Amino acid sequence: MALYVLGDPHLSFSVDKPMDIFGARWKNHAEKIKKNWNDTVGNEDTVVLAGDLSWGISLEEAKEDLAFLHSLAGKKILLRGNHDYWWETHAKMQRFFDENGWDDFYILHNTSIFAEGFSLCGTRGWNVSEGGEQDQKILRREMQRLEHSLSAAKADAEKIVFFHFPPMENDASPFLPILKKYGVRLCYYGHLHGTKALNTASFEQDGIQFHLISCDAVSFTPRCVSDDFQGLTAKNKQISQKNHRFWRKLLSYFIRKS
Ligand SMILES: [Fe+2]
Ligand SMILES: [Fe+2]
Repeated sequence: MALYVLGDPHLSFSVDKPMDIFGARWKNHAEKIKKNWNDTVGNEDTVVLAGDLSWGISLEEAKEDLAFLHSLAGKKILLRGNHDYWWETHAKMQRFFDENGWDDFYILHNTSIFAEGFSLCGTRGWNVSEGGEQDQKILRREMQRLEHSLSAAKADAEKIVFFHFPPMENDASPFLPILKKYGVRLCYYGHLHGTKALNTASFEQDGIQFHLISCDAVSFTPRCVSDDFQGLTAKNKQISQKNHRFWRKLLSYFIRKS
């Protein structure tokens, strides 16, 4: 059983919002998502959907889009994006899911969800470069939400953090001290599209890996978080073996000298 992530499906089965105005890559994007998802994800797997799920502005308008997501393999963990105007309180959304018989949706908001051996945490985030008073207020609230989510995580499980907005701009982020405080090593974010998405590669900051997973940045295919985690632990093992070799060499040098 593996964990995957995909951001920004921007579905619009009920409203007129053709996404190919954002570029040829978005032509028939729902079909691409369906094919790639079902070729990649199994029914026992879990996928985090990192925001901008539907263009609908109410649960009724988002119903067909959610039904489409429900038809895809695996469990789905939903995070809110800036375009998810259909998003309601946890209780209202859960009731809507229950009424429709959708038992594969879980809401990641102000909490943490344990799945596939990881503690999944996150929040929508905000534009970190905006300096206005209102923007700063929203950022502070998002920082509180992240802290709340991380503090709800299982203490002994690896914490993976998901944002909708990019959490960093020019190597700076108000979220970084919180991520470091909780020992987070892997983060994912969406929101960027088109050339912005193509120009933003994965990067590492203060020992934390950040990966962009908006649909067009990952060719409309869920990215395997479990594989990223394996790569991370393999890299750490290599570093500790290297350190071990260094200290052994140094010790044998002093033993020879004495
Ligand atoms: Fe967005
Ligand atoms: Fe988006």
